[in-house]
Parts: sequence; structure tokens; C-alpha cells
Amino acid sequence: MSENLQREKWGSKIGFVLAAAGSAIGLGNIWKFPYVAGQNGGAAFFIIYIFCVILIGLPVIIAEIILGRTAQKNPVGAFKKLSDSKFWPWVGAMGVFAGFIILSFYSVVAGWSVGYVYESATGVFYNFNSAQSAAEHFNHLTKNVTWGIGMLAIFILMTMFFVYAGVQKGIEKGSKIMMPLLFILLIIVMIRGITLEGSDEGLAFIFHPDWSKVTPKTFLEALGQAFFSLSLGMGAMLTYGSYMSRNDNVPKSSLEIVVLDTLVAVIAGVAIFTAVFATGQNAAQGPGLIFHTLPIVFTKMPGGYFVGIIFFILLTIAALTSAISLLEVVTAYFVDEKNWSRHKAVLVFGSLAFLVGIPSVLSFNIIENYKIFGMNFFDVANYLSSNIMLPLGGLLIAIFVGNVWGIDKVLQELKQGSDKLFTNYSWIVSLWVVLIKYVSPILILFVLLQSIGVF
Ligand code: PFF
Repeated sequence: MSENLQREKWGSKIGFVLAAAGSAIGLGNIWKFPYVAGQNGGAAFFIIYIFCVILIGLPVIIAEIILGRTAQKNPVGAFKKLSDSKFWPWVGAMGVFAGFIILSFYSVVAGWSVGYVYESATGVFYNFNSAQSAAEHFNHLTKNVTWGIGMLAIFILMTMFFVYAGVQKGIEKGSKIMMPLLFILLIIVMIRGITLEGSDEGLAFIFHPDWSKVTPKTFLEALGQAFFSLSLGMGAMLTYGSYMSRNDNVPKSSLEIVVLDTLVAVIAGVAIFTAVFATGQNAAQGPGLIFHTLPIVFTKMPGGYFVGIIFFILLTIAALTSAISLLEVVTAYFVDEKNWSRHKAVLVFGSLAFLVGIPSVLSFNIIENYKIFGMNFFDVANYLSSNIMLPLGGLLIAIFVGNVWGIDKVLQELKQGSDKLFTNYSWIVSLWVVLIKYVSPILILFVLLQSIGVF
């Protein structure tokens, strides 16, 4: 097993925050959050989501990062290093597997975003005179197998390029410019959404809860979405934490990542639901939601032609910084544990992710009607990874850090780089201990068991 002598490190303190925020902020916020919220009643879902983020997401992200920073290893290696039991490395292995599966279907949607850069540049949005024609155009594109596979290939190649080159320079620098720009553009699109005639209904949908819409499934969806959006439960944050230096402040960085990620989801939610209701669309229509609505918003704003192009470029970049972290987890595992070269790992698993992504492309056309439990291949990959594997991984990580590793050791590690927190706000530390030891694992377990019908 290679030792840590030449292990890569972030170039700067904020390098980690940027890369980790880059991993967290992505299609999960802009594409998935709005459509899942739309399918689960809007505001009530949103409130449950916020509770999941505070009570589970924040404590678990701290746990994952401190695991990585202490072990300086990939998810499997980290558990091997910190425990003697044969069981825990399997938790890391499940994470690596989940990361690979997510990469495969995530890249399909990211491919749509790549395709929409071209669509917006050709001015095709201006031919849409109703939301229905925007939806028809999207459906027409996703029915085209060559388009889907071609865009998937382009996106995976871009991801492979960065991971192949070693992430730090390109991504650290790139994220610094692109992430703020994406933020500003989203705010612009949100303002246009709010000022559209008939947008109030959209605002009510996202901010006035209708509790009658809440079912047991809503809790699982919200929990899964929190894990997915924060890149948690599969070792992405652990792996990024492993490139950190010991004097970086873990709790503070974690809070920054969580706040940024949630803010982007809220802004995207407002931007999209105001547009959905103003254009008379169905909020619960599923994965095509942003591709049906945003083109209409762009055509209704001054400079919308350019805003549309830049928006899809930035969405692609946001997806790219997330996909990089997914491929990085798999790569780090093969480099650390199997002594592969980074290049070989990227070539092999990038290509495999492409192949496994193909059935997800075909789920929108040829194999659309092949369903298991009412879900096609894409839905199954999406559901199993986000709603089952990530929460399960998060549960086990919380149990390990809170109850197995030894809380004294954990706190000693955590204190490095966050002295002030420990001296001035020791109650926050105690609160975290209670959350990670009891509250987060019990809540996750409860939601998982309830979702399989135990309660
Ligand atoms: N957090 C990413 C998003 O919201 O788009 C998706 C993701 C990236 C999930 C990395 C999991 C992960 F490890």
C-alpha cells in the first residue's frame, strides 16, 4: 500500500472549502431539489429538508471530514486505518460503489446541460410560445439516443480530464471564479422569476406548507436529498478531507459548505417554482422540470439569450465540480489501496461510468417502459443511491465516529484548527457530540426503517 509521502494537498485553506462546496453544489441543488420538492408538496418538503440538514447533514459532514483528515486516506483505507474490525472498511467500499453509480446517472443529466448550452446558443428557446413547446423540445431531445449518449460522453470526458490531471490546480482556481458567478446568475434568474406575472402561487408553493401532502415517503426523500446535495454518506467529503492540512478548521468549513449549499437550493427553488406557476406548468413533473421551465424564463428577460447560454455553461461547471469529486473517490481508492496509477484508475472507471450511464440514457427512450417497482433504470439508480445507500452510509459513519472510534480521540482531532470553538463555545461541541452519537443515527435509522414499512 502506498504511504502518504507524496499525497496531494489543497493549495490553500480556502481551497478545501471551494472544492468541497464545488462537490456539494451541483445538479442536486438546481436540478434535483426543485423537482423532488415539486413531487413532494413544496414547502412542507422544504421544512423537513431543512431539519434534515441541521440535525443530520451538518453533524455528519463534520464527522466525514474529520475521518478523512485524520486518516489521510480514501474511504476504505480510512476505516482500515482507524479500526481493527473487518466490517468498517466495507462501509467505505459501499461508498465507493455508490459514488460510481451516482456518477453514471449524474453524468446523463449533466450531459443534458451540456446539450442545452448549444440549444440556447442556437436561439431555439425563442421558438417556444408556451411551456408545452419547451417540454416537447426537451422530450424530443431525450428521446434521441445518439444525443443522449453523445452528451454523456462529452461530459464524462470533461470529468476524466480534470481528475486525470490532478484536481487541485484546475478546480481550486476554477471554482473560485465560477461558483460566485453561478450564484449571481441564479439570483438574476430568481428575480426575473419573482417578477413574472402569476409568480405568487410559486412563492406560496415553496413557502406555505401544506402538511396534508406529507407522507412517510416525504421524510425519506428529504433525507436522501440532504445527503445527495451535501455529497454525504459515500466518502466524497472524507476523501476531500484527506487532502486537508491538520490546522484547517473543520467545523467552520463544514458550516460554510452547508450554508452555501442550502442557499443555492433555496434560490434555485424560488427561481424555478415562480416560473413553473407563472407559466402554468405542473410542479410534480419530475426530472425534466428545469429544462421545461427555465428556457421560457430566459426568453422573457432582457439579455435572456446570453443569460441562458451562460446559465447552462455554469450549470455544467457546477455539475463538473461535483462529478469530479465522485470520480475522485473511486480513483483515490484504487490509487491508495490497489496501487494503481491515477491515470489508469481514471481511464478505467471513467469508461465504465460511461457504459453504466448508457442504460440511464435509454431510460428516456428505448427502455422507458421497462420498470422495476414502477421505476425505470435511471429512477432505480437515482433512488437506490440517494435514498438508500447514502443515508445508510451516513448512519454507519455517524455510528463509527460517535460510538466506535472513541469520542475522546475524535474531539482531540477536531480541536486541531478549531481551538477557539473549543474554548469559547464548548456547548456547540457538546451539542455536536449529542447529535452525532444519538440524534443523527436514530433519526436516519427511523426514516430508513419507516420507508421499508417497519412502522
Ligand atoms: N452534491 C452533488 C450535487 O448536489 O449535485 C451530487 C453529489 C456529488 C453527490 C458527490 C454525492 C457525491 F459524493
